[in-house]
Amino acid sequence: IPATVAVFVGSLRKASFNRKIAHILADIAADSLKLEIVEIGDLPLYNQDLDDEGTPPAAWTAFREKVKGFDAVLFVTPEYNRSVPAVLKNALDVGSRPYGQSVWGGKPGAVVSVSIGAIGGFGANHHLRQSLVFLNVPTLQQPEAYIGGVGHLLDDDGKLTNEGTRTFLGKFVADFAAWIEKNRAH
Ligand code: FNR
Repeated sequence: IPATVAVFVGSLRKASFNRKIAHILADIAADSLKLEIVEIGDLPLYNQDLDDEGTPPAAWTAFREKVKGFDAVLFVTPEYNRSVPAVLKNALDVGSRPYGQSVWGGKPGAVVSVSIGAIGGFGANHHLRQSLVFLNVPTLQQPEAYIGGVGHLLDDDGKLTNEGTRTFLGKFVADFAAWIEKNRAH
């Protein structure tokens, strides 16, 4: 059975390049991995009082339960001001609590950063990795995936027009699948 991968997209806008890349990755991976986007836009901002008082919002509880069911995690994110968009950081925080009940620990993961700019979201990619170290997500190191200049890689329908990028993403997916096989709980 192919491993299941929860995909978190760090942008909420309808025309998000990151969401398009996430869909492309799901297509490329179809034979080896089952990628599913888990929505994070409706998660209330993390507030520890709500866990301490035993009244976590239903959206947090549903999110935590959902993520627990996946074999692996994939983050596809833009860079906001050289860091991780707040919506994605919030999802990490919500999933990490209550203390001792993190949904992240031990799940193999990978990071793809996507930008219209030339640096390919390097700052976001690495700030995210800092949290993933603490959250005990064994994260694919190579190939690193910094997708820069994304505005030139897709057509109006969100289809990849750049063959070099397709080859790269194919290699990324294959190596991620092998990484999951090696690190997932069996
Ligand atoms: C950006 N953008 C951006 N790009 C980048 O390469 N480095 C950065 O630090 C930032 N900072 C930033 C902050 C904020 C608040 C916004 C809204 C945007 C540009 C960003 O890469 C661009 O908007 C992408 O298109 C966002 O990804 P989606 O929404 O297309 O997936």
